[in-house]
Amino acid sequence: MLSFLKNQKSAVRLRIEGDVTTKLRLKYDPYYHSVTAVDGIHVTAEGRQMVMMSSNEYLGLSQHPKVQEAAREAILKWGTSSCGSRLANGTRSIHCELEEELAQFLGKEACHVIVAGYLGCQGSLAGIAQRGDALIVDKSIHSSLWDGAIISGADIERFSHDDMDSLAELLAKLEMKQPKIIAVDGIYSMEGHMASIPRIVELAKEYSAFTIVDDAHGFGVLGKQGRGIVDHFNATKDVDLIVGSLSKSLASTGGFMAGSKALIEYMRSNCRQIIFSAAVAPSQAAASLAALKVMQTEPQHQERLWENTRYYKKILDDLGLDYWNSPTPAVPIVFGELERAYYVWKSLWEQGFFTVMSVSPGVPVGKDLIRTAISALHTKEQLDRFGEALKNAMKKIGMKPKNG
Ligand SMILES: Cc1ncc(COP(=O)(O)O)c(C=O)c1O
Repeated sequence: MLSFLKNQKSAVRLRIEGDVTTKLRLKYDPYYHSVTAVDGIHVTAEGRQMVMMSSNEYLGLSQHPKVQEAAREAILKWGTSSCGSRLANGTRSIHCELEEELAQFLGKEACHVIVAGYLGCQGSLAGIAQRGDALIVDKSIHSSLWDGAIISGADIERFSHDDMDSLAELLAKLEMKQPKIIAVDGIYSMEGHMASIPRIVELAKEYSAFTIVDDAHGFGVLGKQGRGIVDHFNATKDVDLIVGSLSKSLASTGGFMAGSKALIEYMRSNCRQIIFSAAVAPSQAAASLAALKVMQTEPQHQERLWENTRYYKKILDDLGLDYWNSPTPAVPIVFGELERAYYVWKSLWEQGFFTVMSVSPGVPVGKDLIRTAISALHTKEQLDRFGEALKNAMKKIGMKPKNG
């Protein structure tokens, strides 16, 4: 009996020690680099100052004086954590204030803030969808929605990435009486693509489907003052639940879900990710609240973000690089194969640019890429220098830049 148990344990050990993904990660080593200092869009890593080209800090507010001061004051007022679930002992008035402000900003009746954007997305599907429902998702949804879909036990139906004919065909095939939920990303994090919200809500109306949009990357970026993709397409009334992250434009950590009062109250009693996890740290809630106020009073950050994005795309066009037609500040540069993406990443690193390599299965096979993201903090001079660095990297893998 004892030796049988030993064998079981060694099977687990073998699985851990033989894991191919870990081996690949350790061979190609672009991950988990430790940053020792941050200064605007500069980070120091391995003793060198580098330009950050892959942060989701679209508006550049994590070091904004008002945001930093709000977080500092909140630590002094509330301590570093409320040490408990919102449902139990963890709710602080700063959480409630943030929720009220977010709901109003997004044009929804109510909002709930949760400890991670990932859990907000996962919990929204796991909490709403049930066995017997059809949960209809784009093939490229973020893992957080995907994991929620699996937990929910609903029938998962996938349509081709942002292909509205594929979505329409799928809906037409389903039984009329089956409850339907459509879930998409607002901006797809790897592709940078925007979801076709107008057609999605049209189809949702036709088939009486409930709609969920994960706008982690659209919030702060699109719409009036950064209200997100749903506002951008004037679809606030038509999308039932907007979920998002505090960790990107809101320069904090955590997530949110916003919808009708009845829906948010339902989530507060049924979403296990809310009930069984601690509250967002009060200082993080305070930072988000301050960032939200900055978004509404300082339009220059969103304007600068888009100016930089247009400038950067022109550089990529001149080099003839494939950025998967991303129309947003989330800009993948596709190199196709792991080794090519890796050598580009390495060359950029050596030239002082911090980027992120994303490879299959995180992206479709043949689409291995370097993910870049533009921030309001970038300067044109930095973007020009990055263009030069890309040119050098392309030459290293035998790619000829289009213009020289
Ligand atoms: C599309 C999308 N949804 C959700 C999340 C999760 O957000 P968070 O980092 O706040 O957990 C991410 C994270 O990058 C994301 O890209």
